[in-house]
Amino acid sequence: MLSEKMLNILNEQVKKEAYASHLYLAMASWAENQGLEGISNWFYAQSEEEREHMMKFIRFINERGGHAIVPLVEEPPKEFPGIREAFVASLEHEQMVTGAINDIVTLALEEKDYGTHNWLQWFVEEQMEEEDSVQGIIDKFDLLGGHGLYVFDRDIMSMRGEH
Ligand code: FEO
Repeated sequence: MLSEKMLNILNEQVKKEAYASHLYLAMASWAENQGLEGISNWFYAQSEEEREHMMKFIRFINERGGHAIVPLVEEPPKEFPGIREAFVASLEHEQMVTGAINDIVTLALEEKDYGTHNWLQWFVEEQMEEEDSVQGIIDKFDLLGGHGLYVFDRDIMSMRGEH
């Protein structure tokens, strides 16, 4: 059985994952409108992954006897200042999510809720991978020095499978 505090923080995480899915969907739509097929595909796939994360939290809460609340999701930005800026915003968002996951891990330890603590380890690993993956894309973009957008877009398309 989840404590009330744990239930609330897990439901907050449902909301954060739902927003992440929306944010990446907005980035995908924005990139697609600019004809950036590879980048938009990357963001569409990322949006799907975030929805899966949200679903994992919903299912876990309900399996543990809580009630997962399907949240109202804030509208993400429609426009982004540029490609690099969109990926930097993604990285910052992932760092925020990592902090939120770490807070739940801390609470699980405080409450000696080892079941939840154990279940969260998948997310701890996933966050490290996501931060690493987005940082890798920013590094690649910087390596091209703003040139070769076509090559960058094509490379991002092929990177998706590795994630
Ligand atoms: Fe579900 Fe990218 O955090």
